[in-house]
Amino acid sequence: MTDNPATVPASLAALRAALERVEPLAVYGRVVAIRGLLVEVAGPVAAMRLGGRLDVEGAGGLIPCEVIGFQGERALAMPFGSLEGVRRGCPAFVRDEAAGAVRPSQGWLGRVIDALGRPVDGLGPLPEGPRIYPLRADPPPAHARRRVGPALDLGVRCINTFLTMCAGQRMGIFAGSGVGKSVLLSMLARYTAADVAVIGLVGERGREVQEFLQDDLGAAGLARSVVVVATSDEPALMRRNAAYVTLSVAEHFRDQGAKVLCMIDSITRFAMAQRDIGLAAGEPPTAKGYTPTVFSELPRLLERAGPGVGEGTISALFTVLVEGDDHNEPVADAVRGILDGHIVMERGIAERGRYPAINVLRSVSRTMPRSCDPAYLPVVRRARRVLSTYADMEELIRLGAYRAGSSPEVDQAVALMPDIEAFLGQGKEEATSIGEGYARLAQIVGGD
Ligand SMILES: Nc1ncnc2c1ncn2[C@@H]1O[C@H](COP(=O)(O)OP(=O)(O)O)[C@@H](O)[C@H]1O
Ligand SMILES: [Mg+2]
Repeated sequence: MTDNPATVPASLAALRAALERVEPLAVYGRVVAIRGLLVEVAGPVAAMRLGGRLDVEGAGGLIPCEVIGFQGERALAMPFGSLEGVRRGCPAFVRDEAAGAVRPSQGWLGRVIDALGRPVDGLGPLPEGPRIYPLRADPPPAHARRRVGPALDLGVRCINTFLTMCAGQRMGIFAGSGVGKSVLLSMLARYTAADVAVIGLVGERGREVQEFLQDDLGAAGLARSVVVVATSDEPALMRRNAAYVTLSVAEHFRDQGAKVLCMIDSITRFAMAQRDIGLAAGEPPTAKGYTPTVFSELPRLLERAGPGVGEGTISALFTVLVEGDDHNEPVADAVRGILDGHIVMERGIAERGRYPAINVLRSVSRTMPRSCDPAYLPVVRRARRVLSTYADMEELIRLGAYRAGSSPEVDQAVALMPDIEAFLGQGKEEATSIGEGYARLAQIVGGD
């Protein structure tokens, strides 16, 4: 028999048409309780699974939810949207899929999407790619992973020279609010030699997101980026999943063989979202109110960045909020232990007007010195020594208590500092390649 309609007997065609009209069996439970952000669903609990999706029928339509736990005969779910209008007894349809997956494609470049992979830039539908990328993918198997690649030019000379990053390396940016994280991330997205930037904005205010897109990133920066946004007013699941989607999109471009620069601002807000989800599911709070799953989800997320098994790499920068210089807060501690280096930004430096406000001496790239061009290693060492000599004496010098001539080394540091400070500062419209950066630093501290 063929599928040619002309040769199919009429009765068979009618049967086929009738079959097509049959609704697939809908498995559903019912809402029995709502506690805060938590929806409790009773019914065919055996058909539901952790991380699976439920669609609760509210007054205004279906509200997607994710199963985050079970208690007795009930599934505990959290919504991706507002629960407004949901009543006791509303059906909750069990979907045969994980709560999230995206199908990224090349056409996502230049677009802004939400944590469900929907466009939020008003530019129409997103072209779907052929492959499904689950939001919660596993990292590539450790044994099959390549090693981190050669140096990746980030276009920002302070990082390029003192904290060289390799393709596939993952670093944290530790900073308080208002010290210049967003501007720095936008510079990296615009000036890096990576092929694509994937930027996740997690838990920012709506105004900050607009400022980032329009003032910092700009049209040219956006054109080579995909931006994933979940603002602070969105449900915890959306904020958490925005980080997952960011990695899923980065994985797509990595699988295409691209050098991807993946950035999430901030990983702290991701941890807070996971904490809110954990607390709602009944997890006990431990360190500073964070729940145990926060510390199991963090490595699962961060490990997805890095070298792949093929050509493509995901180099990643994750911002960590540190207030009042408290670098020992639990999320900062956990992140520092997972990543291959950290960049510390300081309010004091920003207040002096030097941007990016990176404290070189407190920052470290764990691939240095291997990643640094050997010809320039002595230059970097000498510049670091000048910085540290100056830092040791800074108080005295500021107070005017240091007498010139007492130490030739300090005299030299005092003489070189203005040029090094100028080198470390970089306007947001200025790009410097790795080669240019080293050449300029060598000119300042002398190269031999
Ligand atoms: N490279 C820079 N050059 C000049 N000014 C900068 C630079 N980076 C940051 N700033 C200043 O710092 C302010 C705060 O930066 P922003 O990136 O929004 O901070 P954060 O994201 O850490 O809250 C900016 O509005 C800008 O005035
Ligand atoms: Mg910001």
